[in-house]
Order: sequence, then C-alpha cells, then structure tokens
Amino acid sequence: MNASPQFRVLRSRATETHNNLREEILAALESIIFESYHNSFTIRADLEVAFAAEVQSKFAVAAHSGTMSLFLALRACDIGPGDEVITVANSDISTTGAISQCGAIPVLCDVLANDYTINTDLVERSITDKTRAIMPVDMHGHPANVKALRPLADHYNLRIVEDAALAAGACDYGLPVGAFADVTVFSFSPFKPLGSSGNGAMLVTNDEEICDKLRLLVGYGHDPLRHGVKDGYQNYTAEGYNVPLDALEAAVLSVKLPYLKEWTAKRRAIVAALQDGLAGAPARLPSFRPESAPTFRSYMICVDRQFEIYQGLRAAGIEAAFSYAPPIYQYSVYAGAFPNSNELKVTDRLAKELVNLPITPEFSDSDVEYMIETTKDLLEKT
Ligand SMILES: Cc1ncc(COP(=O)(O)O)c(C=O)c1O
Repeated sequence: MNASPQFRVLRSRATETHNNLREEILAALESIIFESYHNSFTIRADLEVAFAAEVQSKFAVAAHSGTMSLFLALRACDIGPGDEVITVANSDISTTGAISQCGAIPVLCDVLANDYTINTDLVERSITDKTRAIMPVDMHGHPANVKALRPLADHYNLRIVEDAALAAGACDYGLPVGAFADVTVFSFSPFKPLGSSGNGAMLVTNDEEICDKLRLLVGYGHDPLRHGVKDGYQNYTAEGYNVPLDALEAAVLSVKLPYLKEWTAKRRAIVAALQDGLAGAPARLPSFRPESAPTFRSYMICVDRQFEIYQGLRAAGIEAAFSYAPPIYQYSVYAGAFPNSNELKVTDRLAKELVNLPITPEFSDSDVEYMIETTKDLLEKT
C-alpha cells in the first residue's frame, strides 16, 4: 500500500533523506546522463565493490531486483527441475516464485515464534534425496540462524541461498548477514532498509564460480570484463538475461550506502524505545538470540485483536500494515502447490497476530513517543 499524506507516522520518509543528499545524488546522476554513458558501468562496478566491503563478502553483483536475484542465485547454484528447496511461508512471493520458476519445488518449513525466522530444528526432517538447497529468509530484518544451518547443508551437500531482502545492515555472530550462506540477496526497493528510488538488489557470495555464473546470467550470457571481445566479435558462454541494476539506481545507492550503519543504528534506537515503551502492554514483542543484531525494516508486534489494532493505528495516522500475511501457501496461485510441506502452526498463528509498526530513520523522538502512546492506548482498550 502506498504512503499517503494522511499519515503522520509514515512507513518511509526517504524523500527527506534524498533532499538532504540532493547535491551528491544529482552529481552522480549527472555524471551518467550528461557526461558519459560509460560512467554507468563505473558507478555500478564501484557500488559492487563498496557493497561487498560493507557486508565483508568477496564478490557482489548488482541486479535489477530482489525477485530476479533470488531466481538468479538459485540458477547459479544449479537448482533446476525436480529439485526441492526448503524455505518458509511467511515471506514474499518472490521467495517461492524464484524456486518454482527454476522448475524446483518449494518445501515449506515452520518458523520461530520469537523472531519469525526459519526454525532450524525442523529443517533436517524436510530433507529428502531431492533436496538441493535451503532458502532462509531474514524476515523483517531479523537474521535467520544460517550459521546453525551450515553444518546441515554441508553434510547433505546443499546450497544455502539467503533471502536478506529486508536485512541490509543486520549482523549475526558478529558478521554481516550473508556470511554463512553460499549466495545472499539484498533488495534495494524503496521500503527496504537501504532503498533506491525504484528497483534494485545486490547478490553477494564468497564463491568465485558462483559469482562468474551470476555475472553471465545478469548480463546476457556474456561478461565483457572477463571474456573480452575477440577481433571485434562477441562470444556468449551462456544464455543469460539482461537484468543488471539500473545505473541511475546505482548512482542513488552509491550516495546512500555510506550512511547504512548510521541508519541501522537509528532503527535500532527507535526499536529500543518502542520495546521500553510497550513493555507490560498486552502484546507479544519479538525477541532475539544473543548473537543476532537485526536491522528493523519495521517493528512487528503480536496482538490478539489484529485487525482492530491495525485499523486503530491507521485511524490515528500511523501507517501500520500487515506484512507477509496470509502465509504464501494460501495465495490462490498456490492452491495445492506444496505437497511436501510441513505443519506450519507458528507461521499460521503469527499471520493472524502480527501488526507492523513503521520504522524509518527519519523519525523524531516525538514520532516515536506518539507511536508508543497510541499503540499502548489501543492495546489497553478492552
Ligand atoms: C522477503 C523478501 N524477499 C524478496 C523480496 C523481493 O525483492 P524486490 O522487491 O527487490 O524484488 C521482497 C520484497 O519485498 C521481500 O520482502
């Protein structure tokens, strides 16, 4: 749902930040549009290097969207028809869509009630001789326990493709999310913790072979940097797509990336205030493993009167939402599509309880106080 001026507390106030960075953003855009088209390649390549450094990964490939990147990540891991990929049902349709579009079969696993990420204890029982990958999702910016999945994946020779679409800035076990996966996807669409002005994403990996495959898939099947042009003729070593990150988005992101740590800290500080302010109110707040350092795309609370609280918040000018509800398997496109999936008791319950409070680094103290007081009042009304 789009942000609307009727809301006092908005899901995104990125345009304010863009205005504060106006000169730098315009300079980056101008260099592409009015100086040289070739700057688009440099800006994208520089962003890849800077992002890889930010998340302490060896390689990064900038692509058109998180949706496309999840698909490319699975393709680069050679996931194909008949393979099974274990994932969760409290995610975007991009997650299961990427699996199905490779011809593979999503197998849904339940999640944890405290941080809404994959319940790693339930994964092994879903592994069959067709399983080829696990696709944990860092839901709402909360790191899935990918470190716990790594030995299991290695034992069964599975790839881990981490959907960190919502988690730029988050860390786990002292490392940026993605450290324990084979490939990780971050989305830069506008409501994400690091948003561009339109679509965008980054794939990161420490595996050079995977990175090479990703570059081919992103760029038509031809990587001019690595394979060159022989006597003026091109060569294609794969059938690829044409889905790089748009250069204009790369320009915007290259200006914003240096602020990611500061914005993540601001998101965490807002959540700390919400946690304090809502302590004791009749809501179940998320909690995290001690190693987990989430970023907060939004703050999720579990309540008994979900629709009433959601409506009350919106009527009071707070742009609350339901995120990732109902669970994916209930979409009509998926009728009967997940024959091998598990019982999803926690996922199903959370879908009926979770309400999404907006978080954006531009909030003032009074925005946060207003959100606390309004939420508490609504929760305490009988
Ligand atoms: C968990 C998750 N994965 C993947 C995506 C897809 O990202 P994009 O919007 O960049 O295609 C989204 C988008 O909201 C998401 O929430």
